[in-house]
Amino acid sequence: MARTSRLCSLLAAFILGLIASQLLRPVFHRSGTAQERATGQQLGTAQGPDLPSVPLRPPSEPLAASSPLPPPPPPPLLPAPPALEHHHHRPERANAAFVILLQNKDLHDMRKTMQMLESTFNRRHGYPYVFLNNVPFTEHFKTHIQAMTTAPVKFGLIPREHWSYPASINQTQAALNRKEMEARNVPYGDSESYRHMCRYESGFIFRHELVQEFDYYWRVEPGVTFSCELDFDPFMVMKTKKYKYGFTIALPEFVGTIPTLWENVRQFMQLHPEHISKRNSLEWISYDKGETYNNCHFWSNFEIVDLNFFRSKAYIDFFSLLDEAGGFFYERWGDAPVHSIAAALMLDRKEIHFFNEIGYRHGMYEHCPESPALQLKCACDPKDNVDWVPFSCLRRFLET
Ligand SMILES: *[C@@H]1O[C@H](CO)[C@@H](O)[C@H](O)[C@H]1NC(C)=O
Repeated sequence: MARTSRLCSLLAAFILGLIASQLLRPVFHRSGTAQERATGQQLGTAQGPDLPSVPLRPPSEPLAASSPLPPPPPPPLLPAPPALEHHHHRPERANAAFVILLQNKDLHDMRKTMQMLESTFNRRHGYPYVFLNNVPFTEHFKTHIQAMTTAPVKFGLIPREHWSYPASINQTQAALNRKEMEARNVPYGDSESYRHMCRYESGFIFRHELVQEFDYYWRVEPGVTFSCELDFDPFMVMKTKKYKYGFTIALPEFVGTIPTLWENVRQFMQLHPEHISKRNSLEWISYDKGETYNNCHFWSNFEIVDLNFFRSKAYIDFFSLLDEAGGFFYERWGDAPVHSIAAALMLDRKEIHFFNEIGYRHGMYEHCPESPALQLKCACDPKDNVDWVPFSCLRRFLET
């Protein structure tokens, strides 16, 4: 009994935390110009006109433009740092990109996230970024995003047919259901755009023309943090180990968002036994061999995926059945349970990979690697690690 109420209060904290993390997004005050932040320029370089005639800065720094007849720079006192920022000697790359669905108002959260992604990983690799929006990005947004990286950056518009109601949906009924879910305090229960977003992430993002060319994507959201220096390439790990789905956090979904999801999954399993993997991980998502869903899912705001899995006939058949059932609109099915159930049923257990080395936080939940070796590379507090809290689904996954 005590254990149950503790679980309940933890779950309540989890739900409140999720809501709070959306409501209380920190306001980001910038100091310095965007360009300075983007290029990591040092403060000294902005002081040109007031410099005294005897330079105070180390001789390896560029001289101010106002100095007459600059002498040739002396040899550097320290060995040159490894050429991390530049394009020479890049390691082999996978055909992969970061893919981010966001709005113009997410600019500053996104720039903070990009700065971490670049410094902990991508400045050594140069993987491209694809930004997608259901309305056009502003020029301001584009210049300020572009300034954060030397890697290629693309901005795409989501086609209307991927962000609108299918003809089969009774929108009057959908609106009634939203009101009812709001009254039950279901997270985002009243939000129409959240539903379009979840449906888009579930069934369309991997078909966008800018994403089409890539074999792998790393999904990123504005405001998430990456706390570990990555001395490996997660995309190349996916490719060489033939992983199809990679995650960092596994949690239960809010039951109120998916009342009829599992009955549709069961229908899919009956209709399409050919799509169910022989070495699936049904055991991870069901305590009773598929009778009911235990609500475990990978927290898909972080995911690294072989997009050919999402483009497979198996996954498309799965998405189409769910889409026709209408639960993205009549209920509030999230892309996290949809992706996770698909991965658990249609992939070999060995094709799903836990990226323990990637420190990651979204809202109030964080994966912070605990091993002493990884702690040396990670700027996160292992006390904040969500891996082993009672409601985490990680342990069950690892034991499957
Ligand atoms: C749509 O749903 C509303 C509310 O339940 C219902 O009154 C109406 O008849 C439905 N329309 C159609 C075309 O089924």
